[in-house]
Amino acid sequence: MLVEEVFEGYKRQFIETGEPVSVNFRTLVPDMKSKERFTHLIHSYPAKLLCNIPYYFLSTTDLFCPYEGFVLDPFSGTGTVLLEAIASGRNAYGADANPLAILISKVKTTYIPKDELLDTLSAILTRARRDHSVFPPDEMIGEWFSESTINQLHRLEVSIGKVRKAKQKDFFLLCFSNLIKKVSFADPTISVPVKLNPNRFAEGSERRESAQFRLKTLQDVDVYDKFESICMLNIARVDSLKDLDKRVSAEVISNDARNLTRHLTGGELLDDGSVDLIFTSPPYAGAQKYIRASRLNLYWLGTKESAAIRGLNDKNIGREDYHRAQTLQRIETGISAADAVLENLYSKGKAERACIVGTYLNEMKAALDESYRVLKSGGYMILVIGNNTVSGISFNTQDYLTTYLQSKGMHLEFKLIDDIKSYGLMTKRNKTANTISSEWVLVLKK
Ligand SMILES: C[S@@+](CC[C@H](N)C(=O)[O-])C[C@H]1O[C@@H](n2cnc3c(N)ncnc32)[C@H](O)[C@@H]1O
Repeated sequence: MLVEEVFEGYKRQFIETGEPVSVNFRTLVPDMKSKERFTHLIHSYPAKLLCNIPYYFLSTTDLFCPYEGFVLDPFSGTGTVLLEAIASGRNAYGADANPLAILISKVKTTYIPKDELLDTLSAILTRARRDHSVFPPDEMIGEWFSESTINQLHRLEVSIGKVRKAKQKDFFLLCFSNLIKKVSFADPTISVPVKLNPNRFAEGSERRESAQFRLKTLQDVDVYDKFESICMLNIARVDSLKDLDKRVSAEVISNDARNLTRHLTGGELLDDGSVDLIFTSPPYAGAQKYIRASRLNLYWLGTKESAAIRGLNDKNIGREDYHRAQTLQRIETGISAADAVLENLYSKGKAERACIVGTYLNEMKAALDESYRVLKSGGYMILVIGNNTVSGISFNTQDYLTTYLQSKGMHLEFKLIDDIKSYGLMTKRNKTANTISSEWVLVLKK
């Protein structure tokens, strides 16, 4: 069956039953089973979108977006949608509030010839190995890396800084960032930096011994060697982009979904009605700490001041750290079902939770307004989103966002639901994400 017919079937079923159509994206797109696809694995990041989902929608001819049309992901994270868009022959725009995410998206969608990268890599390593400068003590990172690692990271940072070609410099900065957690004392199984603690595991257990061994080897690790291996893997990944259609390209145009500019440098706004399709997986309220999770990476990528990190966090929709004074202001969203939940939270003395989810919804409304503005009339908006539970109360984010978009005149074509609980893969995420157990795909038309 043609994929267009499958989507027609979803639409019919949704109209007939009024219920979201149950799907499993991992099995729907069987030819995506192999894990490596282009540059998707070039850098880790919390809550990446399953690439099967945009791939599936974009495998239609012109149902959702014509070839060489424009797809926008206003919360583009690591650029999963951007890459699938260019791989399917569409242009892509992205926006993200996290500079690390912007860097990943750019590098992920930029082809650079292998030979050029190999030459530059060799120059970077030679310069770094010859450098004997010492990094001045800094409390912020002293506890996360050994002294020898800090000095090697510093020399690599200086050496990469000397690369003149901007695209190449970004590529090596990304590989450098990829290295940071691997040579730090942070627990590799936790997304936000938390010190690896062998005492968490039972005495004499294999896990305790392996944690102790890891901490010992990290005292004296050859950072340059590790950097080189990461670069070699990523050079091969970037090389896989060489056969993509050269008529289309991807660009990150903004660092705030609420203000979509033509270019990342700011200035003029992206034109009204200039985008064919919006495809995004927005943040959830309080579910992922994107800036905190990237803190060590951002430090080595140049954001060394805590105030600058706080500034980035304040722009992050879904953040959960508010001053007490902020939590005392009563929030309303104008979405009655959500306001009823807020009322319930206030009545139970949970003003902080109410502030987190209420601010989240109001900021998401502003972002959706901006997406709506740039979407063509007749264009689709596809949102992949879960629900969370807040202080034991279900917070039906997908329902509130649907209601809001309908109030703007958008038509709900259909909803899909993917029960991610059943994969048995999501335990870690469920823990950090307040038991997000289903993912919804909302398909609306302007
Ligand atoms: C669920 S993630 C997107 C993941 C992405 N689809 C991927 O596959 O990597 C949500 C993203 O929204 C970003 N974000 C939060 N607030 C934002 C804002 N005001 N403007 C743009 N992006 C924002 C976060 O930094 C995060 O990268």
